[in-house]
Amino acid sequence: MGIFYEEATKTFHLQAGDSSYVMQVVDNGFLAHLYWGRKVEKYQSTNRQPIVSRSFSGNPSSAIDRGLSLDTLPQEFPVYGTTDYRAPIVQVQLENGTTITDFRYDSHRIFPGKPLLEGLPATYIEEKEEAETLELQLSDRLSGLKAELLYTVYHKRAVIVRSIRLVNNGTHSLRLLRALSTSVDFRDDEFDMITLPGAWAKEREIERFPLRRGTQSTESRRGASSHQQNPFLALARKDTNEQHGDVYGFSFVYSGNFLAQAEVDQFHTTRVLMGINPFDFSWKLEAGEVFQCPEVVMVHSHEGLGGMSRTYHDLYRSRLARGAFRDKERPVLINNWEATYFDFNAEKIESIAAAGRELGIELMVLDDGWFGKRNDDKTSLGDWFVNEEKLPDGLENLAARVRDMGMEFGLWFEPEMVSADSDLYRKHPDWCLHVPNADRSESRNQLVLDFSREDVCITVTKMVMDVLSNAPITYVKWDMNRHITEIGSAQLPADRQRETAHRYMLGLYSVMERITTSFPHILFESCSGGGGRVDPGMLFYMPQTWISDNTDAVSRLKIQYGTSLVYPVSSMGAHVSDVPNHQVHRITSLKMRGDVAASGNLGYELDLTKLSDQEKEEVKKQVAVYKEHRSLIQFGDFYRLLSPFEGNETAWICINKEKTEAILSYFRVLDAPNPPLRTIKAYGLHPEKMYIIQETGELAGGDELMYAGIVIPPSLSGDFASAVFHLKEV
Ligand code: DGJ
Repeated sequence: MGIFYEEATKTFHLQAGDSSYVMQVVDNGFLAHLYWGRKVEKYQSTNRQPIVSRSFSGNPSSAIDRGLSLDTLPQEFPVYGTTDYRAPIVQVQLENGTTITDFRYDSHRIFPGKPLLEGLPATYIEEKEEAETLELQLSDRLSGLKAELLYTVYHKRAVIVRSIRLVNNGTHSLRLLRALSTSVDFRDDEFDMITLPGAWAKEREIERFPLRRGTQSTESRRGASSHQQNPFLALARKDTNEQHGDVYGFSFVYSGNFLAQAEVDQFHTTRVLMGINPFDFSWKLEAGEVFQCPEVVMVHSHEGLGGMSRTYHDLYRSRLARGAFRDKERPVLINNWEATYFDFNAEKIESIAAAGRELGIELMVLDDGWFGKRNDDKTSLGDWFVNEEKLPDGLENLAARVRDMGMEFGLWFEPEMVSADSDLYRKHPDWCLHVPNADRSESRNQLVLDFSREDVCITVTKMVMDVLSNAPITYVKWDMNRHITEIGSAQLPADRQRETAHRYMLGLYSVMERITTSFPHILFESCSGGGGRVDPGMLFYMPQTWISDNTDAVSRLKIQYGTSLVYPVSSMGAHVSDVPNHQVHRITSLKMRGDVAASGNLGYELDLTKLSDQEKEEVKKQVAVYKEHRSLIQFGDFYRLLSPFEGNETAWICINKEKTEAILSYFRVLDAPNPPLRTIKAYGLHPEKMYIIQETGELAGGDELMYAGIVIPPSLSGDFASAVFHLKEV
């Protein structure tokens, strides 16, 4: 297991978990891709690509063989202008205005462990023995630019992490026009591409479609990873399903503009590229300077989509998320947003907290509206001091009183934003992203602070840290409620304006790093109008996220199911809200709302003081049952069993690592006369263990539960029904 180099053939064989990835230095220093897939013990290159000369596929002048064309060679670091016509991984403009580069292999080194990326979120290791890294040095003969390609393999996970450092070793400044992080050439195009598009309140819908010739892509130009697309792409073989078949996942550890694409060429080969979106991007690299590309986490699974997801879940839960809460059970919370919106005072918050305490809820989260003069969304973002009209005794006092009840206290912020009607904006009108002489477009009545500026980052960090230092706060919800327009910074010179979007991300990451590491006792939850920034970059700073503003239980089935393709259950905030639901006006049962939310990090978001006694009893029970099982739900293995994207029913199962306990949840949206009987196969259990189904008292082997299944009782009736089965080894 690890990284092997064979000098005679100049072949690199990377073994990660049960996968292999092979490349070779060919001809005069080109880096060819040979294989990625199921692990092979010793790669002998039986699949080597025959050298075939093709018309209109030229040969680099140094090519020894007429058959060598970069247009046909599967490569690791493809560039433009020297016979490859497919999309390149980097493109550089030299001082003379030209954009041709010719990168060749120089040297390499293999070392234990995995380096962190400066200023960027990244997966990590805890012990050096967990991973090994190959660094390949390539240099461009024309510009002096050096590319350091990093490949980290995790020994026990089918994970290869790729990133690139570009170092200007020349004497002139260069302009990066494109600096992507990974490129993989597959030998054929017999794949389906899977992406996670969506919109506000309907994030991460699974889309699967056959590759066709040409380029198919998913990207964000919104300044955030966005609700609309997610920085993820997978290629799955046609017969790949949840449990079987090959799939290749690409997940970008970045929260801003990204591009992920698959290009099928004339020979039916497929190139996948992923990285910072080249759209409206360029970066001036002075002599001696370095540009670090964010990393891409590549996962191969031959156990279907489920296998891929669980590899991502384990890695992201334990080697991307950080901090004291990484492995801690997450508290059950009550959030006042849908209970009161902006209309609250200290007494109201206290009464909701008191009601929550009675029901076993552990954390009171005060959402938007506690600061400045904020009584609606038109004002005060940027003025992070308490709204004395609503909280006359101050925030500290309210937090202390909530804590005296035996509850933790959490607070909402939107640090990246400023309202035109705010003291901060009146004082610093040039602190928002803007373009000279252009109007400043508002969205939700707000502007975006220019986090590419150090002074802005320092001031905002201080304001947030002052609040966190002065009140007993143990949870923060970090929101971001608009996308970026008029991208430009008053502090950058003309020839660096196109760096603004990436500099914004670097500034944001530095602020988040400073704040989250300064308050290790605080649980941070990211949010962007719900799930607008559900991405691995955010997970590095904040171990959980509010995955959607849509709290309707039926909509949530798809949102949680789709999100689970990449992101672990421990990262998903899931709340029970009021009915009719505020986003879609649907009335669902409290049971179903509870069962759906209890498949994530459970919370409540409604006015608990208005519940009937019967509803209170039901909530109390939900909370108690959840607490009993939350470690299994939040940190166990997640298997998708029935897809809400394919019909009226959904099912999934969470199983603890030892496979001694599991919770299977089944949901049916609409009832129908004479419905077919449904059995659910409890995939993922241990076939040789005996389990008791606690709800029915039945005993059965794991093999029977997995292969024959559990029947859904026909007594389950009515619309919006759910059934939960707790399985325990006996
Ligand atoms: C959008 C978030 O997703 C909501 O949960 C809430 O915090 C509002 N913003 C507050 O403005």
